[in-house]
Amino acid sequence: MSFRKDFIWGAATASYQIEGAAFEDGKGRNVWDDFTHAKGNVFGGHTGDVACDHYHLFKQDVALMKEMGVKNYRFSLSWARILPEGTGAVNQKGIDFYNALIDELVAAGIRPFITLFHWDYPSALQAKGAWTNPESPKWFEAYTEICARAFGDRVKDFITFNEPQCFIGLGYGSGVHAPGYRLPLNATVPMSHHVLVAHGLAVKKLRELVPGVRVGYAPCGDARIPASDSPADIEAARKSYFDVGDDPAGWAFNVSWWSDPAILGCYPEAGLSKLGQYLPDGWEKDMETICQPLDFYAQNIYNGRIVKAADNEYGYEFVDFEPGHPKTAIQWFITPEALYWGPKLLYERYKTPFLISENGMSAHDAVSLDGKVHDPNRQDYMHRYLREYKRAAEDGVDAIGYLAWSLMDNFEWAFGYFDRFGLVYVDYTTQKRTIKDSFYWYKEVMEQNGENL
Ligand code: NOJ
Repeated sequence: MSFRKDFIWGAATASYQIEGAAFEDGKGRNVWDDFTHAKGNVFGGHTGDVACDHYHLFKQDVALMKEMGVKNYRFSLSWARILPEGTGAVNQKGIDFYNALIDELVAAGIRPFITLFHWDYPSALQAKGAWTNPESPKWFEAYTEICARAFGDRVKDFITFNEPQCFIGLGYGSGVHAPGYRLPLNATVPMSHHVLVAHGLAVKKLRELVPGVRVGYAPCGDARIPASDSPADIEAARKSYFDVGDDPAGWAFNVSWWSDPAILGCYPEAGLSKLGQYLPDGWEKDMETICQPLDFYAQNIYNGRIVKAADNEYGYEFVDFEPGHPKTAIQWFITPEALYWGPKLLYERYKTPFLISENGMSAHDAVSLDGKVHDPNRQDYMHRYLREYKRAAEDGVDAIGYLAWSLMDNFEWAFGYFDRFGLVYVDYTTQKRTIKDSFYWYKEVMEQNGENL
């Protein structure tokens, strides 16, 4: 048994993390341009002003993908590069850039997956209250329409939002990401509702304008791994995975608040009882718009938490990792079973073809004396995780694909350039790219459709 024959193997990136050209060719500012330029927000004062300079080097990057047998590439569009003010006048040079990138991908035989929004929110719309503004779903719908009309002839795979948990939870709850606000629940909960409405409007718009479109959504969440195979622990993991908290700084980090409305058409009971009071008036009438059929449900999964049954008010408790449990450079625990239990529990609940839209490892890579980048740790990480994902597919999850994070080292948000997630090493001084050993290994995995895992 293996992955399905048409399994989507590929890699992913996001606009602010790789493009650079932050103030070029008419691009408007976004909240990350502002956040990185304010002191103390990002490690080392790093910014995405240049990043991997992909805006200028995209042809080289596409050639590299072709060389490595990448057949599917997920990237995001910079909203403010296309609409400098967020709404209104279109920046033709922004459209030209993405057209050139898409043409290059198609010519190289690479299927483009567009993420409409991966966190770089236009500053002009931030000034109008961003997602607190009841008009904000309409702004996103209008932006989607422009993208659908401009790129929908060649791009058929779209993802509406990447990790709403993070851009709301970290951007407006804990404030560690742009725009760096720490707002109370009566602001962030309505924001989440507006994001969900925007998602629904975008799905509808894409279906209306792009023949043959396939639309997905890419939230995230630490998967849950039952402490044992006992039914009680499995149920505890399930319960914990879909539970919702109400800590103002951390409530957004859950799966069901963001996915149940989009796929099941209702907010989860566990969330409504704690957060329902903060939803905007008349929220019920939006549920039909929010719940649109999806062609695939994507998730970014990097790790999981171990859960066991407990005789407490929650019915579960978390189990600490043993001392010295392996971690990645960014200090995330390595938990391969997250790619078994995550897809399994998510597919069981949402019953929608499932895509891993991100998974990968940060490490302190370096170019060795032989000029190569040896990263056996990343290869081992991917190997272990992919075996678990394959096991989930064999156990009945309709697993349609896996997109590695990331094609190349890039700007890791508040951590700047400290950690490296790429399959390609980037020297940020010279912009020289070096293919890492793990990428040569992943090439074989893709070629063999995972038979060698
Ligand atoms: C999720 C985010 O979507 C991506 O932008 C980020 O770089 C990776 N995780 C790694 O943290």
